[in-house]
Amino acid sequence: MTIHKSIPHQRNAWYAVAMAEEVTRTPLRRVILGEPLVLYRAEDGTAVALEDRCCHRLAPLSPGKLVGDCIECPYHGLRFDPDGTCTFIPGQLDIPARARVQAYPLVERYGLIWAWMGDAAAELARLPDWRWAESADWAVRGGYFHIKCHYALSVDNLMDLSHIAYVHSGTIGSASDAEKAVIDTLSEPGRVTVRRWVENQPPSPGFQKRFGPDPIDRWQLIEFQPPCYIRTFKGLGKGIYGTAGFDFTSAESDPPEGALSVSRGNTCITPETDGTCHYFTVHCHHGPVPDEEADQAWALAAEALAEDVLILEQTQENMELDPAKRMVFIHFDEGVEKARQAMRMAVKEEAS
Ligand code: FES
Ligand SMILES: [Fe+2]
Repeated sequence: MTIHKSIPHQRNAWYAVAMAEEVTRTPLRRVILGEPLVLYRAEDGTAVALEDRCCHRLAPLSPGKLVGDCIECPYHGLRFDPDGTCTFIPGQLDIPARARVQAYPLVERYGLIWAWMGDAAAELARLPDWRWAESADWAVRGGYFHIKCHYALSVDNLMDLSHIAYVHSGTIGSASDAEKAVIDTLSEPGRVTVRRWVENQPPSPGFQKRFGPDPIDRWQLIEFQPPCYIRTFKGLGKGIYGTAGFDFTSAESDPPEGALSVSRGNTCITPETDGTCHYFTVHCHHGPVPDEEADQAWALAAEALAEDVLILEQTQENMELDPAKRMVFIHFDEGVEKARQAMRMAVKEEAS
C-alpha cells in the first residue's frame, strides 16, 4: 500500500502553515493537506487564511491584490472578506449566497501561524505545548524548510536518531550515536516517546568545534504527538550521567549543573501534498546564552537539517518508483512504527 493511503491526514488539528513574519500585506499561497490557502494580514495586523481558489472560475486569489481587508481575485475582480464572503462582483448587485470561499480559523503562537483544517470547532487547547519558545529563559531561533517527501518520512527521521551517526557524521553525529546509545521507547494514547542516552563518548565534529575533544555524555528525548508534532529535549555535558535530581525525560526538570548545552526542539511537519511537506521548527537553547552562541547552535541545526532533506528526498523518490516495495524492520524502528500507529489511530478516532 502506498504511504499516503496507509497514513491518511488527520483534519481536526492545528497545523503550522507559515512563520509569522512570512504573512504580510502581500498575499502568500501555501498548499496544506492538499488544499490551497492564501495567507495575508488584515489592516489591523490580524492574520487571515482563505481558500486560494476563487469560487467563480477557480483561479488562485493569491496573485490578486488586497483592498482594505478584502482580497480581489486577479481574474475577474470578485472580492472576498476575511470570512470568505464575496462582497463585490463587478457590475452585479445581486451576490449569490454560494459566492464564497472557505475561511480557516487561525492562531498566532510561538512565532508561527497555525491553521485549523477540520470541520469540527477549533480547540485552542489542542495546540502543542512549546512554552519555552515564549520564555525569556531560552534563546529562540527557528525556520521553515520545504521537503519533497511524505510528512511521515520526516517524522520517522526524528523518531530514529540512530541516523545521526551516518547522515550527520560531519556535523552533529558520531559513530557512538548508533552503536553505544541506550534506547527505550514508551507509548501511551496520543504520545510516543523515544529516550536515548550515550555516555562518555567522543563528541561529533560539530560539537568538537564548540566544546573541545573530551568525551561527553549526551541525552535525547524525542516525543511525537499526532498529527505531526515533535518535541526533542536534548543536551550534552561532561560527567552528567547520573547527576542527582536531573531527569532528562521531564520537561519540568531543571538543566543539570555543568551541562555544556541544553535545548528543546519543537517541530511541526505539516503535510503539503501526498509527496511533500512543510517543516517548521523552533529551537530553544537554555540561556542566558550570548546571541552568537545561539546563532552558532542554530546554524549547526540548520546544516544538519539540510543533510536530512537530501536523504529524505532521495528516499521519497525511490518509494515513488515502486510504492509497493516493503521495508525491513530493525531495532531502531520501534519509535518510528509506534508513531505511525499513533497517526493511524488519531485518524481512526477522528473518523468515528
Ligand atoms: S475566477 Fe475569480 S473572479 Fe473569475
Ligand atoms: Fe537528522
